[in-house]
Order: sequence, then structure tokens, then C-alpha cells
Amino acid sequence: MSRTERSPKAGPGFRVLGIETSCDETAAAVVVDGHGVLSNVVSSQVDIHARYGGVVPEIASRAHVELLNPVVAQAIVEAGLPDDGPDAVAATYGPGLVGSLLVGISAAKAMAMVWGVPFVGVNHLEAHLHAALLEEPDLEMPVIVLLVSGGHTMVINMRGIGDYEVLGSTLDDAAGEAFDKVARFLGLGYPGGPIIDQLATEGDPEAVRLPRAMLDDAYDFSFSGLKTAVVNSVRKQPDLDTADVAASFQAAVVDVLVAKARKAAREVGATGIAIGGGVAANSQLREAVLDAAVDDGIQAFLPSRSMCTDNAAMVAAAGYYRLQSEGPTSLAVGAVPNLKLA
Ligand code: KG4
Ligand code: ZN
Repeated sequence: MSRTERSPKAGPGFRVLGIETSCDETAAAVVVDGHGVLSNVVSSQVDIHARYGGVVPEIASRAHVELLNPVVAQAIVEAGLPDDGPDAVAATYGPGLVGSLLVGISAAKAMAMVWGVPFVGVNHLEAHLHAALLEEPDLEMPVIVLLVSGGHTMVINMRGIGDYEVLGSTLDDAAGEAFDKVARFLGLGYPGGPIIDQLATEGDPEAVRLPRAMLDDAYDFSFSGLKTAVVNSVRKQPDLDTADVAASFQAAVVDVLVAKARKAAREVGATGIAIGGGVAANSQLREAVLDAAVDDGIQAFLPSRSMCTDNAAMVAAAGYYRLQSEGPTSLAVGAVPNLKLA
């Protein structure tokens, strides 16, 4: 199929429409020159999935189909885009739920064709890395990024844009998944991260002794044993205060995350530690990364909480740089549910 593409725009003022539908957030945003956020609209499906205790893939895809057009329309209006549209359209093509990803990339390709502008496929994990850059465009590399979400837990050496070395990752549950599973066990609701974060402020982080798994092993993580330890402690002592359990669990996760990020920063001579992904919204993790950075004389890059959880501004930013380095993505590209970062 042929399409008429506008001659590519060069120079400042390059506006990318980003679309994110990899999991349970339907999001669209317009970002100029890779860092100026003109609009950033996120419609969360959390309420739809909460009654099932987690994301139901088929329901997520259907909700994306219903929500995407109004979300994109709002992002376009808020950004004040002219009728001839943005200069490129970027969408997450992986990793994520295949049906959800397909909704976003199909819509993005169709819009790119209608406007005659390039389509750019974006890796969701790379987009999370760009969330830190969006608010710190002059970030000096290398930076250690702790990418902690519902699906991933990684320590990444970011040597430059597009130049990533994954130093370690989780061998079982992701950090966010551990928050969600422990919250479900404690009967606290979904998603567990924000609820535990809040409840932990009223608890004693030293009340329950919990393991710090793989603390002395390089950069890999394991969180499934911690979840089992929480279950066993509560079963053994049913009268434990739930806030104490939440605080102790959260402290165990944060201790391991920060220790490994810190070790990696020392080893690669990083200028700082950045965090990204939903768990990067965690208050105690943010505080601990800041304290560690101050102690080690390096910087801490803590994106605003709304930039940590899934959004499309990070997708538009990642798309801008990918377009510059690799050019447009073929319209033949499909969803890649297990896409890797490097
Ligand atoms: O990055 P994200 O929005 O979606 C994925 O790509 O997975 O991350 C969602 C995860 C969920 O597991 C949620 O419980 C967790 O991030 N999360 C938090 C907090 N806010 C969200 N975990 C700990 N503390 C928080 N404040
Ligand atoms: Zn994510």
C-alpha cells in the first residue's frame, strides 16, 4: 500500500504524538523536541480490573478500544495541534499484553498514514528510561537506572540514549508484582503498591524479620521468597499489625533495590541513580535512593510520580529519539509481547 508522506520536518518544534496501551493504562501525549510535554492524558482501567484482583487481558483490550479515541482527541486538543497533525506518531509495540498492544499500534499506524507522517514503534522499557530524561534533559551519562514495574525489575547501565546494558533482573516476581501479591494476601486490594506505600507510613519496618534475598549476589533479584516469608509470618502470628507487615515488607524490597543500584553505580562510575516504572512512585524507595546518592556523592534522578507509572509522554519522547537514530518503523511491524531492552 502506498501512502503520501509529508517531507520530514527538520529543526526545533518537532511534535510527536505518543500512544501507550501495553497494559491497563490507555494514554496519549504530545511531546515537542523529545522533552517538552504539551499534553499527557492517562485513562487508568484500575477500577475495571480491581474487582478481579489483577489485569484481565481480554477486558483490557476491549477497554483500550473504547478509550483510545477520546484519550487521543483530548491529547491533541490540549496540545493545540494544528489540523495537519503531529510530525510523527509513536506507539508502544512491546513488551506487554498482545491484544492491548495491537489496539495502540493499529491506531497509531492508521493515524500516521492519514496524516502522512512517520510511524515509530517504541519499546515500553526504553520509554520508562526516557521518563527520567524528560524532566532532566541534561542528565550526564552513565547513569544507573532502577527500572521497577509490575512486570520488570532491572538494574540498567544507561551509557547513552539507545546504549543500555542490563546488569541484572529478577529471576522470579517483579517488584511491583510482589507488592500486588502481598497486598492481595493481606486483603488490601489492587493495585497493591500505592496501598502498601500508604499503610506502611503507620507501621514499624523492623516489626517483622524478613529476608533480603540475593543481597550479596551481583545484580539479580528474587522476590518470590519474600512473599512466602510474609505469608508464613502472618500465618504463624495472626495478630500481627497489618501496617507493621506492610512496612516490614516494603523495607525488605527497598533495601535490596537500593543496595544493588548503589553497588552498580560505584562499579560503572555513574554520575547518578535514576528510577523508573510504577514502583519508582514508592515514597520509601524515593527517600532511600536520595539518601544513598547524598552519601555516595552522586545524583538522584527521581521522575515525578505520574511520570513513573505508565504514560504516553515517555513513549513520545522515546519515539522522538528512535526516529532520529533509526528512522521510521515499518508499518509491517506487529506487537512483540516479549520484547527485550537489550
Ligand atoms: O510501570 P507500571 O505503571 O506498569 C507496568 O509497566 O507494570 O507499574 C505498575 C506497578 C504495580 O505493580 C503497582 O502496584 C506498582 O507499580 N506501584 C507501586 C506504587 N505505585 C505503583 N509500588 C510501590 N509503591 C507505589 N507507590
Ligand atoms: Zn510500565
